[in-house]
Amino acid sequence: MRRFWFGTNFKMHHTPGESRQFMHELGARAADLIDAGDLHLFVIPPFTSIMDMADAASGSSVLVGAQNMHWADDGAYTGEIGARMLVAAGARLVMLGHAERRQQWGETDRDLNRKLHTALHHGLRVLLCVGETADEKQYGVGREVVARQLKIALHAIDQPDALLIAYEPVWSIGEGGTAADPAYVATMLIDMRGVLRELYGDRSADLPIVYGGSVNLNNCGLYARLPGVDGLFVGRAAWQADGFVGVLRTALRAREEI
Ligand code: PGA
Repeated sequence: MRRFWFGTNFKMHHTPGESRQFMHELGARAADLIDAGDLHLFVIPPFTSIMDMADAASGSSVLVGAQNMHWADDGAYTGEIGARMLVAAGARLVMLGHAERRQQWGETDRDLNRKLHTALHHGLRVLLCVGETADEKQYGVGREVVARQLKIALHAIDQPDALLIAYEPVWSIGEGGTAADPAYVATMLIDMRGVLRELYGDRSADLPIVYGGSVNLNNCGLYARLPGVDGLFVGRAAWQADGFVGVLRTALRAREEI
């Protein structure tokens, strides 16, 4: 199997009990896939579910991640959470720069760069999300926007082996999102690969790029088949374990057809 990363971000959904149940169901429905070859599964629940999910996932290769963190280790930052706390709770991954964080909380690329340094220092793998808005796409600067996001967030970061990049066009995410044309995604991924090569040279070849934004059972095969895609990052369609496993199996089947 060619390497394939597959995961979901629960956003603000699922209690600890529901999250634990998800993990048990995932274990039951995908026993043949978990720990298979070069398949890497990850789940990113709300903070309150991390301990339960990490406990339920222990002994398997499924990575449990957090949806955000502060760049400081600790301090007077009410409502925030630090990397050490995440690691102690069992997180092995942290997602940084999701479009909803950038848009609703005004996270900047420079903020993300600080967070990346801290996360990597504490041994967390980082899932960095990038993507252009509808306006930026309309004005034809999508590739420039994504290149800028990558270059600033990854500035002076020298651990490409601890990174995972998600390309998620903002206009394709969530209820109001429009699924992207796979051909458009393919060209964006080629550009992103070029930027990563600029930053990391030959080491960039092993850095996975996953695609996300309105991925579902019907379209996942189209994205999974793209040559530049190393995996899929799914929201709504994977919040229940049967959806997660359904999309995963369909994507893997599509990939075998390449
Ligand atoms: P969606 O979410 O699959 O529900 O569009 C994707 C995301 O927000 O990462």
